[in-house]
Amino acid sequence: MLLNTMTASLLQQSIAYVRTRITTRPALALVLGSGLGALADDFASAVSIPYTDIPGMERSSVQGHAGRLVAGTLEGIDVIAMQGRLHPYEGHALEAVVLGVRLMLSLGAATLLVTNAAGGLDPALPAGSLMLIEDHINLSGRNCLVGGNDDALGPRFPDMSRAYDQALSALCLEVAGELGINLTSGVYAGVLGPSYETPAEVRMLRQLGAHAVGMSTVQEVIAARHMGARVLGLSCITNPAAGLSAEPLRHDDVERRAKASAAQLSQLVRGVVARVGSLPA
Ligand code: HPA
Repeated sequence: MLLNTMTASLLQQSIAYVRTRITTRPALALVLGSGLGALADDFASAVSIPYTDIPGMERSSVQGHAGRLVAGTLEGIDVIAMQGRLHPYEGHALEAVVLGVRLMLSLGAATLLVTNAAGGLDPALPAGSLMLIEDHINLSGRNCLVGGNDDALGPRFPDMSRAYDQALSALCLEVAGELGINLTSGVYAGVLGPSYETPAEVRMLRQLGAHAVGMSTVQEVIAARHMGARVLGLSCITNPAAGLSAEPLRHDDVERRAKASAAQLSQLVRGVVARVGSLPA
């Protein structure tokens, strides 16, 4: 059997189930990464569904990832969020990793906002800073679209030349400027993990033109672009990447740093959400 041939029926089952719990049609979907889930706690009229209740969705095994789908309103807009994500390094099939994104977009969201915690490769991106993802390099050696293509979702060979939407990115930079938030644009390198990089790998990533490195996001963005959604990406830089500081890397520190930046990230996301309706289609 080809990979990805289960997707269509599982996706239909997950949509059917979630529609019994959520009656709104979200305009915007969010993926909230390590330590960044708090934003969904601020949704008004929130309905929260544990992943374990949703057919086909698996449970996130990572500390700091709540594992819930949360629908509600933010700045008066109907939104839906994954509070915690699944990562390929957990051993999940890529179909499961991207099912949540496909589900949220199938419920009506035309825009996806992805957030993550990432290591900084550039001295201009110290721990605690935020990076607007202008493009990514998928270094995981994998692609969620390998296997049979579901033509109902999107084309066999989706274009990735403008994976991160320019108008949305410009809006985000404008909002950051107005809020006095320092936001630097850069390239996100997506690796498989779960071991952190070696210093030699970090030097390679810098030479490849990446500014931040993390273990998530790229598959979600590929799935979203396959479906034609507009994507905005934000990385919360939680640490200098391996070899750029004397400190060894620890997930606890990553999560703590992400939580420390969550309020600023929330402010930025709220500002973007409030104005996303004003963008030309
Ligand atoms: N490398 C990979 N993933 C990460 C890092 C890192 O340094 N920090 C947070 N996620």
